[in-house]
Amino acid sequence: MRNFTASLGICSIIFAGSFIFSSCSTSNGSEQTDLTVATSQSDGNEVVDAIMSRRSIRKYKDTPVEREKLQQIVACGINAPSGMNKQPWHVRVVDNPEYINGITELFVKQNPDMANQNGFKNMFRNAPAVIFVASPIDGSGQLDCGMLGENMMLAAQSLGLGTCCLGGPISFMKNTEEALPYLKQLQIPTDYSLLYAIAVGYPDEAPESKPRDDKKVMFID
Ligand SMILES: Cc1cc2nc3c(=O)[nH]c(=O)nc-3n(C[C@H](O)[C@H](O)[C@H](O)COP(=O)(O)O)c2cc1C
Repeated sequence: MRNFTASLGICSIIFAGSFIFSSCSTSNGSEQTDLTVATSQSDGNEVVDAIMSRRSIRKYKDTPVEREKLQQIVACGINAPSGMNKQPWHVRVVDNPEYINGITELFVKQNPDMANQNGFKNMFRNAPAVIFVASPIDGSGQLDCGMLGENMMLAAQSLGLGTCCLGGPISFMKNTEEALPYLKQLQIPTDYSLLYAIAVGYPDEAPESKPRDDKKVMFID
């Protein structure tokens, strides 16, 4: 999971670095940049706009996501770079309400408070479709899987869909005996294991951006 966060960070740095920024020199000659200026100037670049406007969505309309759009999203996912082009991932798309509601019932039995949350529909942050991503059990491939995921979330954003990367439901699915039939249904090879999921659907909220710490970014001269 840390690798995934790192890959998102790298992506943001690369894009933000290509824009005008204001900076101040530090005593060792490196530059602390003010990325708030850079990130507010996309100049109509659609990729930058998609990156900057993407937010984790946790409320979705009931409208199902068209299969064509889901196909486009996963096509963008598997076109992500991967070390030595190993493509060390397995991807499963689930938009079957019986699957989503069935496993949610099990989840709610263990977490009854969840069902009392305002607008609760299911354990995947209420989305009508979920994309599961699995990586090799030897721990490799997680960085590659992170890149696959960000590609899919940005593709979804550009298609008018909202997403939320999810780790919580995966722990439940992997550590709950009653959930085993749902895990088996995903047909993940035995040398792979679920890493995270992405909730996908038409957004029913527009959350504000959470603050980003640009002090963690430095230009070294
Ligand atoms: C690896 C990973 C796991 C996450 N797991 C969850 C989760 O289980 N539940 C959830 O609601 N959000 C989850 N998130 C979403 C983060 O909370 C969210 O990306 C972060 O707060 C920044 O907000 P933003 O995506 O709107 O910019 C996860 C994100 C990542 C990258």
